[in-house]
Amino acid sequence: MHKGRTYIVTGVTSGIGAETCQALKSSGAKVIGVDRNKTDIADEFYLADLSEPDSIADLIECLPEGANGLANIAGLPPTAPADLLMKVNLIGLRDFTNGVVDKLADGASIVNIASLAGFGWPDAMTQVKEALALEFSSDVTGFCAANKLDEGGRSYFLSKEALIVWTMQNRWTWRDRGIRMNTVSPGPVETPILKDFLETLGKRAEEDAKVMDRPGLPSDIAPVVSFLLSEGSGWIRGSNIATDGGMSSHIMSEVHQF
Ligand SMILES: NC(=O)c1ccc[n+]([C@@H]2O[C@H](COP(=O)([O-])OP(=O)(O)OC[C@H]3O[C@@H](n4cnc5c(N)ncnc54)[C@H](O)[C@@H]3O)[C@@H](O)[C@H]2O)c1
Repeated sequence: MHKGRTYIVTGVTSGIGAETCQALKSSGAKVIGVDRNKTDIADEFYLADLSEPDSIADLIECLPEGANGLANIAGLPPTAPADLLMKVNLIGLRDFTNGVVDKLADGASIVNIASLAGFGWPDAMTQVKEALALEFSSDVTGFCAANKLDEGGRSYFLSKEALIVWTMQNRWTWRDRGIRMNTVSPGPVETPILKDFLETLGKRAEEDAKVMDRPGLPSDIAPVVSFLLSEGSGWIRGSNIATDGGMSSHIMSEVHQF
C-alpha cells in the first residue's frame, strides 16, 4: 500500500508511534521518525523537542523535502504539567505542521492523533477558541491557571478538543496542493501512558472499563493511521475517526437515550 512512499512520524519511539512506524515500514514505506527520545526503528531519525519553538524550527530546516504524509503522534498524558502539555499536544503540533507543510509532497496526508477525550468539543467552544489562539509567545502558564487546566486532566481534554476543531478548520487549507488532514481518536490504549490516564480519571476510568470489552492496543490504531495516510482515503478530509471499541457510540447512545 505504501511502496515508494515516505512518511514523517512524530512520537515514533514509543506506543502508537512505534507501532505505526512498524506498520508503515512493513507495507513498503520509508519512515522518518521524530521524538525527544532516541530510537533506531525508523529509517531516518531526528531528535526534537516539540515543546520548544527553536527545536521545532531546527527540525523543519533539517527534514528532507517530498514526504507523502505526516503522522503527528507525539503527545503527553494528563499527568504532565498543563502548560507543557498544551505546548506539546497543541501549540507545537500546530506550529510544526504549519512549518513543515511546504516541504511535503503535493497530495500528502496529515494525520493527527486526538483522543476520545476530545469528544466534548462542541460543548467547549469558547475555551477551544481561546486555546487555538495560543502561541509559544503567549502566557501559556497564565492561560492554564486561569482556566484551571491542571484540575482533573482538563488540559489533556482541551488539547484534544482543540486538535479536532483545528483539523476541521483546516479541511481545505491546502486543497490547491491536494494536501488533507484528519484526526484519529483512540479510546484507552495499552501504552506506557495508559496508567497516567487511569490515575487522572479515577472513578470515570472504572466506569469506562465496565462497558469496554478490552482496552485498545497500538495495533488497533496503527492500521487506521496507515489507511488515512494512504491514497485510498483521499476523499476523507477534516474528519475525526473514532477508533475506540465503540466507546464514543456508547456515550452518544447514553446522551441521546436511544
Ligand atoms: N494510550 C492511550 O490510551 C491514548 C488514548 C488516546 C490518545 N492517545 C494519544 O496517542 C498519542 C501517542 O500516545 P502513546 O499512548 O503512544 O504514548 P507514549 O508515551 O507511548 O508515546 C508518546 C511519544 O511522544 C513522545 N513525546 C512526548 N513529548 C514529546 C516532545 N516534547 N517532543 C517530542 N516527542 C515527544 C514521547 O517521547 C513518546 O515516544 C498521544 O498523542 C496520546 O495523547 C493515547
